[in-house]
Amino acid sequence: MTTFHETWAEWLEANRAMWDERVPIHAASEYYDQDAFRKGKDEIRDFEAAEVGDVTGKRLLHLQCHMGQDTLSWARRGAAKVVGLDFSEAAIEVARGLAAEVGIGPDRAEFVVSDVYEAASAVPDPDYDIVYTGIGALDWLPDVRRWAEVAASLVAPGGFLYLSEFHPVTHVLGWGEDRTIEYDYFDASPQVTDEPGTYTDFKAETVNNLSFERLHTLGDIVSAIAAAGLRVEFLHEFDMTMFQRYAGLERGEDGCYRAPKGQPRLPLMFSLKASRAA
Ligand SMILES: C[S@@+](CC[C@H](N)C(=O)[O-])C[C@H]1O[C@@H](n2cnc3c(N)ncnc32)[C@H](O)[C@@H]1O
Repeated sequence: MTTFHETWAEWLEANRAMWDERVPIHAASEYYDQDAFRKGKDEIRDFEAAEVGDVTGKRLLHLQCHMGQDTLSWARRGAAKVVGLDFSEAAIEVARGLAAEVGIGPDRAEFVVSDVYEAASAVPDPDYDIVYTGIGALDWLPDVRRWAEVAASLVAPGGFLYLSEFHPVTHVLGWGEDRTIEYDYFDASPQVTDEPGTYTDFKAETVNNLSFERLHTLGDIVSAIAAAGLRVEFLHEFDMTMFQRYAGLERGEDGCYRAPKGQPRLPLMFSLKASRAA
């Protein structure tokens, strides 16, 4: 049987090369709209802001922070200190550059290059009031139990983990309007992709295209967090998502995508808050 470390070595090399190559494409994209970010655009979604609550004076760790726009948005919202972690050096360089450009100094925003599984030894502090992650993060990890142990270990007493993610149920659907079930919800084997392009530009000409992902069921995610010793405060499911996940979804004035009125709905995103006793 293949060990976690053997699986992970293969995933890590391929996935990191894939993400590194996509960073400059993302940084120049309309999707991430860094000019708007420089001018003050807040990247935090309304439901996240409402559910996380006031971050004034808090220390927040963002796991898998990509180019740091969400991380820095939490700083703009008043967090005393934010730390962003990502295994892509290219992404972290962009994040550090953005922080400097928007005037958030290293005393308030630190960015570290690290595999999320090694986060505990990479981040500057032993724990944080808020550990935040999601929006396309968990699927890149082969083992959700190990992830939950790392994330939970970084939550300070009285603090919490907040996760906002695409709902795993959406991963079973095809991309057409008929919403047919094309993938197995319970298939835990690696999803291997080897195609050029990226979600900000499907036509981008890229060479590092091999990547590995896997679907973690909602049950596995929640159970992993509970097993890691945190108390689940809530699990919310949403009928909206951040992109055109299948052809029939309609974009609302808030920029979110939903099924047309009257059509039966599926959960498209979820959020979870899990806390550590004070
Ligand atoms: C889709 S992005 C999600 C980030 C953020 N929510 C956003 O939309 O900008 C996924 C991020 O996970 C990072 N990543 C993937 N696997 C990782 C790992 N094992 N350790 C640390 N970062 C990882 C990638 O480099 C990428 O920046």
